[in-house]
Amino acid sequence: MDLLLKVWRQKGRKESGKIVDYNITGISGDSSFLEMLDLLNEQLINNGEEPVAFDHDCREGICGSCSLVINGQAHGPDKFITTCQLHMRKFKDGDTIYIEPFRAKAFPVIKDLVVDRGAFDRIQQSGGYISVNTSGNTQDANLTPVNKENADAAFDAATCIGCGACVATCKNSSAMLFVGAKVSQYSLLPQGQVESATRVINMVNQMDKEGFGNCSNTGACEVECPKGISLENIARMNREYFKAKLNKD
Ligand code: SF4
Ligand code: FES
Repeated sequence: MDLLLKVWRQKGRKESGKIVDYNITGISGDSSFLEMLDLLNEQLINNGEEPVAFDHDCREGICGSCSLVINGQAHGPDKFITTCQLHMRKFKDGDTIYIEPFRAKAFPVIKDLVVDRGAFDRIQQSGGYISVNTSGNTQDANLTPVNKENADAAFDAATCIGCGACVATCKNSSAMLFVGAKVSQYSLLPQGQVESATRVINMVNQMDKEGFGNCSNTGACEVECPKGISLENIARMNREYFKAKLNKD
């Protein structure tokens, strides 16, 4: 198929960007979206032009590196997949495709389609861990009973890959779905109880410090999340936060 690509080009953090048009021909429906961008870059390099910078790593939906807002949708027009899992058969010959970076104040553009998602790393560093005794007396995890309902909910929360599509989709650029998932995966397990109060307070404080907006219960994040992370995680985070604050004050 032949396509018109309208791609966000931006030389650096401090430069202003703009949409640039590229025609690309002979794209197979079996190509992935990122393979199509690889072909565009080959074309640009052959023409002596600068290739388009975009993020990717695993290309199988698990690392959270890929991003992109495609025709106005984070990770494009398919449900429960990342951009690297999107295939060109979702488009048709002659289509125009807008390709832009995730946009949020807390995710500044570094170059073209690459944004700095270091804010997520700093939130994770502020509390997304547990303390385990590794001095030789380490207990086998299977010796700690966990009820099935909590184990399943913790596992579901832990499938968040930290991609940031929730932030890019939210009209408030809120990171509460991401933080809610990270808080939930520990708060539902006995191993996460030791630091539970400081964890939720520190992670929420860091989220606010990074400049993410608040949740106004629209639910767009849940709709666009490639891993189907549920809004229930935001409600759980709010409960954990109030509980921690009440016990502290
Ligand atoms: S909650 Fe979903 S959209 Fe947000 S970072 Fe996690 S996987 Fe990505
Ligand atoms: S490149 Fe790893 S999730 Fe897309």
